[in-house]
Amino acid sequence: MFWIAEAEGAPLFDALTIVLSKVFDKIYKLVYYIIKQDIKNIPPRRYPMRKVTLFIAMSLDGYIADRNGSVDWLAGQEPDYDDMESYHEFIKDIDTVVMGWNTYHQVATDLSPDEWIYRGLTTHVVTHRTMVSTEEIKFTKEDVCSLVTALKQEDGKGIWICGGANIIQPLIRENRIDRYHISVIPTILGSGLPLFPRTASPVGAPADGEIKLKCIKTQLYNGITDLIYEPR
Ligand SMILES: NC(=O)c1ccc[n+]([C@@H]2O[C@H](COP(=O)([O-])OP(=O)(O)OC[C@H]3O[C@@H](n4cnc5c(N)ncnc54)[C@H](OP(=O)(O)O)[C@@H]3O)[C@@H](O)[C@H]2O)c1
Repeated sequence: MFWIAEAEGAPLFDALTIVLSKVFDKIYKLVYYIIKQDIKNIPPRRYPMRKVTLFIAMSLDGYIADRNGSVDWLAGQEPDYDDMESYHEFIKDIDTVVMGWNTYHQVATDLSPDEWIYRGLTTHVVTHRTMVSTEEIKFTKEDVCSLVTALKQEDGKGIWICGGANIIQPLIRENRIDRYHISVIPTILGSGLPLFPRTASPVGAPADGEIKLKCIKTQLYNGITDLIYEPR
């Protein structure tokens, strides 16, 4: 080989250079092709579906408001304890709230008339009324199940179904709740607004609207028991 190179001189060296550059070119193209294929195969970034959580407080006998619609019994057993502990933890993963008109009206006029308590979150209020929406509070006549389905398609953090009973029922019936976070308050009210109203099915009829759940977590603080479930 050395001998041929010497005999043929520079033209052979040029030929060798051309051959080598073609080989390198081929290797370059092959590597480029492999990387390109790999890039093509990387799945596009997907946001995990937003979780829809019913986070609500309930008396031991199953009511979310007393017979007058009041929630002033929502407290643990010791008056000086911070009962909001689990709420603060929960709200970190939430940016959207869904509530019915009655709940909105009670919060805005009775529970906290001077300050909107869900500042920094987007609240959707379901009502048949025509109201002027703001960036933070959006009034909608949309069916609550369609609203929640649409919100789930958007990017964002979790969706909190705040209440009340009226907007919760269709969401449970249509199985749109991904997580049930029920805080059981150590109080028996005797009457009020039930979280799970009785269905009209006659005794002995096949189970109607049964939703099997699995327990994710329980926690106890100040006599309040948080029961956290997801559909099985
Ligand atoms: N324990 C808790 O943690 C908790 C949490 C939240 C609420 N609550 C209690 O729950 C009570 C309120 O519950 P609620 O069942 O009476 O009322 P709600 O669910 O808060 O609101 C019901 C109202 O929402 C509107 N609405 C419902 N479905 C609609 C639809 N498909 N399209 C358009 N608008 C619709 C209607 O208002 P329009 O008449 O304006 O159309 C309806 O009267 C309050 O006493 C509150 O204190 C308790």
